[in-house]
Amino acid sequence: MVLYLVGVGPGSPDFVTPAAQRAVEESDLIIGSERVLELFDKEVERLVFDGKNVREKLEEGVKRAGKGETVSILSTGDPGFSGVLKPVNEILKKFNINVSVQVIPGISSIQLCAARLLLPWNNADILTLHGRKDDEILKIIDNGKPTILLPSKNPTETASFLIEKGVNPHRKVAICERLSYPDERVMIMKLKDVKNSRFSYMCVMVIY
Ligand SMILES: C[S@@+](CC[C@H](N)C(=O)[O-])C[C@H]1O[C@@H](n2cnc3c(N)ncnc32)[C@H](O)[C@@H]1O
Repeated sequence: MVLYLVGVGPGSPDFVTPAAQRAVEESDLIIGSERVLELFDKEVERLVFDGKNVREKLEEGVKRAGKGETVSILSTGDPGFSGVLKPVNEILKKFNINVSVQVIPGISSIQLCAARLLLPWNNADILTLHGRKDDEILKIIDNGKPTILLPSKNPTETASFLIEKGVNPHRKVAICERLSYPDERVMIMKLKDVKNSRFSYMCVMVIY
């Protein structure tokens, strides 16, 4: 009878909290992308979503919780930062579903990025470009604070965009790729070199 929105961290089992494990243990149904579902061994009904059917699967999970099942919707990192919290709030409102909702916070890729770079993040700007126009970054890029960015595209394309818009190609940038996985890479380079390199889509960028 609870709808859990569970943050599972950046990807490695090392960052899955006991609270996340407990929520999954209690659940009749768990929902998430393949890479987050595989963090849990529990034999339980699973709904897998991919880039194309997220909304449909979220709606199904929320409706089933509304009918009395205990459901965990799993989110990479933290559910409240570019995660499942926003769409689930919209679904609850749209269908007027009355259910007890609990958010289990997770370690965001933003936090692990800041940790890897020894960067205190209280004085940084934190921005996601998922679901937003790339132009948003131009409003803050020159305010003297580091920008910790979840790019919605590959960092190569984001770097090309910034250089096109007049950002200094010699700006210092950090790319934190596939954080917490065995093939994690943390790279410090100039913006112009980001434009000429290749990365996975799973990156956090810091523009100093
Ligand atoms: C839809 S957002 C989800 C963010 C998540 N809620 C969080 O708090 O980390 C997905 C983006 O997060 C970033 N991301 C998630 N996991 C990551 C990881 N292990 N390493 C680097 N970036 C990651 C990538 O930029 C990816 O495109």
